[in-house]
Amino acid sequence: MHPYHPTHTAIHDWYITHGRHDLPWRQTEDPYRIYLSEIMLQQTQVNTVLERFYFPFLERFPTLAEVAAAPEEAVLKAWEGLGYYTRARNLHATARQTQGVLPCTAAELEQLPGIGRSTAAAIACFAYGEAVPILDANVRRILYRFFRRRTARASELWRMAERLFDSAHPYEYNQAMMDIGATICTSKAPRCAECPLHSRCRGSAIPERYPAPHPRKTRPVRKRIMWIFTDGERYGVRRGEARLLGGLYGFPQSEEDVIGTFLGEVRHHYSHFTLEGKVVLTDKYPEEAVEMYPVNVIETLPLSTADRKALELLKHYLL
Ligand code: ADE
Repeated sequence: MHPYHPTHTAIHDWYITHGRHDLPWRQTEDPYRIYLSEIMLQQTQVNTVLERFYFPFLERFPTLAEVAAAPEEAVLKAWEGLGYYTRARNLHATARQTQGVLPCTAAELEQLPGIGRSTAAAIACFAYGEAVPILDANVRRILYRFFRRRTARASELWRMAERLFDSAHPYEYNQAMMDIGATICTSKAPRCAECPLHSRCRGSAIPERYPAPHPRKTRPVRKRIMWIFTDGERYGVRRGEARLLGGLYGFPQSEEDVIGTFLGEVRHHYSHFTLEGKVVLTDKYPEEAVEMYPVNVIETLPLSTADRKALELLKHYLL
């Protein structure tokens, strides 16, 4: 768009007045702190990141060089509870690959593990002022509505992102779009009257029509036995190898029941299924090989949230 386009002025003014300037990753120029926030925010809500994960992680790993120097397991431990652990493994790989110094262009950032085009743009823009648009789920929803589209291919969405982009104020524009998407242009009941894009938004008459709704997939339920093998003193855990929980420790799972002491049930939602685990303490060795540790050691290992819940049941039983 042309410089000084009224929509750009409106977005810019809106950001100055209503933007969330207090977010800690907007109060720093440290590329690592900005990068870390963008990785955490890829799949986790702002408030969760802010309240529970961002500061403790930075306390444990104040620099990317310290991430690079640590074993992957320590990074997974600091990521524990945040989910989507591939992000933590990629963070560690990126730290090692860059030797703790991030490149400063979106094109180079995009080559690193776990950094797609939008995250690369966000880091390059917020840390180095590069004039590139971002396209996360919130921005995408704004674009669908602004251009009154029900469906669009990724390449078209990027073209729309570039069309609306304010290259004169890339930082404020990109941060504003995230805030508008999160607080005004919400999926349900958007507050169009408060939106700086309102007067030019082609979709604002019936915003709920755009984009076309996703067919909602119901998450299948995966029923499993969470198998806590014991020799009377120590308990068996295995390191996950699957992509989902790779590198984390956990109790073996089985579809077959086992004779033992029923400790309780855990439920946990993953991206593509819900786990319903029946936690059983048993002296029968599981199908998978396990390493044996006392409870106080297992507590220090990186565990998934479901395994952490199973461990709590075990501790409660042992009281
Ligand atoms: N989501 C992703 N990046 C963000 C940012 N910089 N501010 C707020 N929410 C975000």
